[in-house]
Order: sequence, then C-alpha cells, then structure tokens
Amino acid sequence: MTTNPTDQHDTPFTGQVAVVTGAASGIGEAIAIHLAERGARIAGVDIAPALADSVAALPGEGHLALTANIADAGEASAAIDRVVAELGTPQVLVNSAGIGRFAPGEDLSEKEWSSTLAVNLSGAFFMTQAAGRAMLAAGYGRVVTLASQAAGIGLPEHAAYSASKAGVLGFTRVLAVEWASRGVTVNAVSPTIADTALAREIWVGEKGESARSLIPAGRFVTPSEIASLVAFLAGRDAAMITGEDVRIDGGRSVI
Ligand SMILES: NC(=O)c1ccc[n+]([C@@H]2O[C@H](COP(=O)([O-])OP(=O)(O)OC[C@H]3O[C@@H](n4cnc5c(N)ncnc54)[C@H](O)[C@@H]3O)[C@@H](O)[C@H]2O)c1
Repeated sequence: MTTNPTDQHDTPFTGQVAVVTGAASGIGEAIAIHLAERGARIAGVDIAPALADSVAALPGEGHLALTANIADAGEASAAIDRVVAELGTPQVLVNSAGIGRFAPGEDLSEKEWSSTLAVNLSGAFFMTQAAGRAMLAAGYGRVVTLASQAAGIGLPEHAAYSASKAGVLGFTRVLAVEWASRGVTVNAVSPTIADTALAREIWVGEKGESARSLIPAGRFVTPSEIASLVAFLAGRDAAMITGEDVRIDGGRSVI
C-alpha cells in the first residue's frame, strides 16, 4: 500500500496557521520545522536577522517571517495583525522566544532582571493575548509556551529566569480557565537543558557536566523531542488538556 503524503494522519496541521516565536534559532526553529512538515503554514516571529533564512528553509509553502520585539506590546499585537491579514487567523501559537541572563542573585543587575522578565514573561503574555483574541473570535486555538525546569526547581544563578518561567505558568493557568469553554487551550512545556545558544550561556564545561549528571535519563533533551511534545499539545486531539505544565526533563524534577 502506498502512503498518501497529504493524508491528514501525516499532516494534521494542513490548513492551519501556526505562529512560532523564536523561530530563528534552537527550539523554536525545530518546532517551526516540525509543524511545517506536518502541513502548517508558519508565521515565524523573531528579533534576530537569521529569521528570514530559517523561514525560507522551512518545508512547504506560504510561510511568513515577521521581525518583531515581542517584549513590546505594540509590536506583538502588530505581528498578530499581520498574520491575520496575510495568512488568516492562527490556530496555533507557540511562544518559544526567550533569553537567559544568569548571575548569582546578589550580583544580578536591574537590567538583567528587567530584560529577562520583559521577554520571557511579558513578551509571551503579549503574544498570547493578541493571538488569543483572534482565536477566541474564531472559537478555536492552541497556545503552548516554553517554560522551563527552572520554573519549578531552584537552580543557582537563575533568579530572573526562574521567576520569568514561574510567571509563565501563572498566566497559563489563568488563561486556560478563562478560555476553556471557548475552544482555546493554553499550556506550557518545561524542558530540561537542550543544547542551544541560550543553554550555552550557562551550561558549558563542568557546569554542563554536573547538570547532566543530575538528569536521571543521563542526557539533555533534544529540540526535536520538545517539538514532538509541543505538536501534540498544539493538535486537535489535545482538546481536553489545558492549564498544564508538561515536563520533558528525563526525570530531573522528580528526584
Ligand atoms: N535551551 C534550553 O536548555 C531550554 C530549557 C528550557 C526552556 N527553554 C526555553 O525554550 C525557549 C527557546 O530557547 P532556545 O534554547 O531555543 O534559545 P535560542 O537562544 O536558541 O532561541 C531563542 C530565540 O528567541 C529570540 N528572541 C529573543 N528575544 C526576543 C525578542 N525580544 N523578540 C523576539 N524574539 C526574541 C532570539 O532571537 C532567538 O532566535 C526559551 O523560552 C527558553 O527559555 C530552553
């Protein structure tokens, strides 16, 4: 029997528009590729110039690259307006854009604290609010935000990062409750370390090895493993999962 490549089973996102922030790099780029391979048209949102090349390299057609600073509420909302105008109402929003500013709590500067909260927490909220309005009007939507293992455990030098990710879990639960009866689910995923530019800000050399030794699975997670989990939560079958924080950490947070 031959396999039809356009079978809905293989391409469950056919006909859907997925907004992916942070699509120029790391986990966001892997998620954009994964969803595009399964039929979605991607609106990649990122502040980095590399975005254009990442979106151009996506499989399939009809994708859109939008340069925006998600920490600016006006830019986040304008990005969603452009998605709606050029691709149509999005069915999926994945908030993967994020930064890591790591220092011992007593040394963390105000700028490091504020910028981390501005991008990781406020930026994810502004995008969710803007996309959520369009999704609520359409009666269907899936929001998945990258939190982190750092939301739930105390990792040295992570005060700002950890606070930003714990905040993500807070708004995720509230919006999940507010939007549950209107067809829009809101979830978070919390990975352990994945080898990306952001992780290399801190998890290198001995620190990296020692962090790896605390993961019962004995290794870091890969961006494509995270992409598979995000795609499940972003799919139609996940209609009854909302307000969750799904950990993908090889057992790191349960030891
Ligand atoms: N890599 C890890 O170990 C790890 C673990 C847990 C959670 N996470 C989370 O996963 C997400 C993706 O991280 P990654 O490892 O792929 O990092 P990355 O640095 O590879 O990618 C992050 C992307 O976000 C973009 N970005 C940063 N600030 C932005 C802004 N103001 N507006 C728009 N785009 C902006 C960057 O340009 C970059 O392309 C982040 O939210 C991160 O906190 C990462």
